[in-house]
Parts: sequence; C-alpha cells; structure tokens
Amino acid sequence: MPLTDRFNHRVDYMRISVTDRCNERCLYCLPHEQVAWLPRGEILAFEEILRVARVAAGLGIVKFRITGGEPLVRRDVVPFIGGLNEIPGVSDIGLTTNATLLAPLAERLRANGVRRLNVSMDTLRPDRYAAISQRAMLREAVEGLDAARAAGFPQIKLNMVLMRGKNDDEVLEMIEFAREKSVVLRFIEMMPVSTTEVLTEANFMPVGEVMRLVRARHGELASEPGCQGNGPATYYTVPGLACRDGRPLLIGFIGALTNRHFCETCNKIRLTSDGKLRPCLGSHGEFDLKRVLRQPDATDTALRAVFMETIAGKPEQHEFRDNYQPGRRMTAIGG
Ligand code: 5AD
Ligand code: SF4
Repeated sequence: MPLTDRFNHRVDYMRISVTDRCNERCLYCLPHEQVAWLPRGEILAFEEILRVARVAAGLGIVKFRITGGEPLVRRDVVPFIGGLNEIPGVSDIGLTTNATLLAPLAERLRANGVRRLNVSMDTLRPDRYAAISQRAMLREAVEGLDAARAAGFPQIKLNMVLMRGKNDDEVLEMIEFAREKSVVLRFIEMMPVSTTEVLTEANFMPVGEVMRLVRARHGELASEPGCQGNGPATYYTVPGLACRDGRPLLIGFIGALTNRHFCETCNKIRLTSDGKLRPCLGSHGEFDLKRVLRQPDATDTALRAVFMETIAGKPEQHEFRDNYQPGRRMTAIGG
C-alpha cells in the first residue's frame, strides 16, 4: 500500500540532509550573520540515519536523495551511501552537491549506488561564482561535473538558481553549457528559505521570463510530461535543440513561487541533519524523530509513528507566498 497524505500526495521519497556544514556560503542559502554550525552531537550518526532509512523503506519510502549543507564535506559519506543502497526496497539514490569536492569521489559514489546527481551551478563566470557562493571555486565545480560525466551517472542535472542582476543574463549561455556537457538543465526560482530579501523585485526572477528568453532565441518549447522526476519541476525540450551526445536537451523549470500548481505533485518528506522529519520545505512544521530514536529502547514501531504523524502533517502547499518567515537555514533542512 503506497503512503498517501490527506491531499492524495503519494509519499515515496525522502531527502536526507547529512550535514548542515558547507564549504561555500551562497547568498540565498546562508544568512549574512555568521551562525554557528550545529554541534556534532546534534547531527544524526550514519548508523542512526540508516536505521531511519530502513524504517522508511519498510513504509514504502524507497527513493532517497542525499543533501546538506554540502554532503561531500562529511567524512565517510560514500560508505554510508553504500549502506543505504543495500537496504531492501531502496530503489533510487540521488545526491545534490555543489561539485567542488566531487572530482575525486565521483567514481566511488557511482559504484556505491548514486544514480541521479544534481549539481548546483548558478553562473559560469569565475568572478560571479565567487560573489554568489563567497568562494572562488568555479574551476573545482566544473572539474567535479566533468568527473561525474566520466563516471557514467545515469542522470546528471545542473541547477541554476535565478537571481536578478546577478546571473539573469546567463540563461542562454547556461543552455549552451548544458548542451556541451550533455546534462539536464533546471532553472530554479529563488525561495525565501533562509532570507526573505531574495523575493524583492530587485532580486527575484520568475521562470516565465526564462521561458520567454528561450523561446525568443530557440523557438517554441515542447512539454515533456513523461520526464516528470521526483517533484515539482516541469520539463521541456526545444525541437531541434540537442546536446553534444545527440540527445534532446531537457530543460526543467522550478517555479516555486509563480507556479500555482507547484505542490500538486509533491511526493517527499525531509530528514534534517539534526533528526527532524519535515513534511514541507516551505512550512514550519517538524516532527522530532531524533528524540524517539535516541530513547534507549526505541522501537521501529515508535519511529513509524513519527513518520505517520509527519505524513499526516503534510500541508496542501508551501507558505512561501504568504509572507513566510524563515526559521532555520536551508543547510540545516536540506534543499
Ligand atoms: N532558493 C532556491 N533554491 C535554493 N537552493 C538553495 N537555496 C535556495 C533558495 N533559497 C538550491 C541550491 C541547490 C538546491 C538544493 O537548492 O542551489 O541546487
Ligand atoms: Fe553550500 Fe549549496 Fe548552500 Fe551554496 S546553496 S551554501 S553550495 S549548501
């Protein structure tokens, strides 16, 4: 029996944040004031996460994505993923990374079961990359991406977060880059996850504007409903526009703020790095799984109950449009 919430979302996907730490400092992700990282003891141990994942898989949550912070800054993340991959029922493992630490790890990640790789890349210009992420590591990120291509992941996506005045003039260049690298490209609207100031007209760029730019340059977009992955991106191809490897270029739009139907296909819950289950990125509700997990005689039944509570607590949609005030950093929640 698949799990469904009150609004008939079928929940079979969990994003796991394995750390709140990151080697970059993206403007939209971390707040400007320096906030301390979570103390190590608050972060779930990999054994704890594997137990949670076993319980989840038993409930039909069989697809996972590893996020952070930057998941590759955590030591032993590769054997952890190997352990996740061995859990009966687990059918899909993805990883979201800034790719700066990926080059030496790509092959081992692939060998340990990662199938879908998402690489965050907001700009192709070194100076802008340094300004947006506050670290001058574009070269490392591109090397990471190339290593991943060589390692043969079945699916690689580039994520570009749209920022007015910062990278809005790079949309067409990013399309050429994605074609050259033969990867899927996704344009993401800024969400007020860590700070609300990203939503002002001076900062926010809607995906509709990207669609217009693409149409004006390349012609009509063709909807690709068959490419619907995990979650709310909508995918298109452009007739005649192919990647270097000959396959059509797939372009995804994540219109978190402007697409009214955004949450209708939501199939996920999140496990935060400090052990909370979170039914929605854009809604404050959290359920304290760690408290139950760390009781000396914690049973799987008790853990299952927290999952059921979380799924029952899934809202119909996010609250980002309703003057949402961020409470925790994106890095703690896991994108
Ligand atoms: N709005 C939109 N996207 C964001 N990401 C991180 N913070 C935000 C935000 N505030 C993106 C990252 C990464 C993915 C996990 O989410 O760039 O690609
Ligand atoms: Fe790090 Fe990703 Fe957040 Fe940037 S968006 S600070 S790379 S976790």
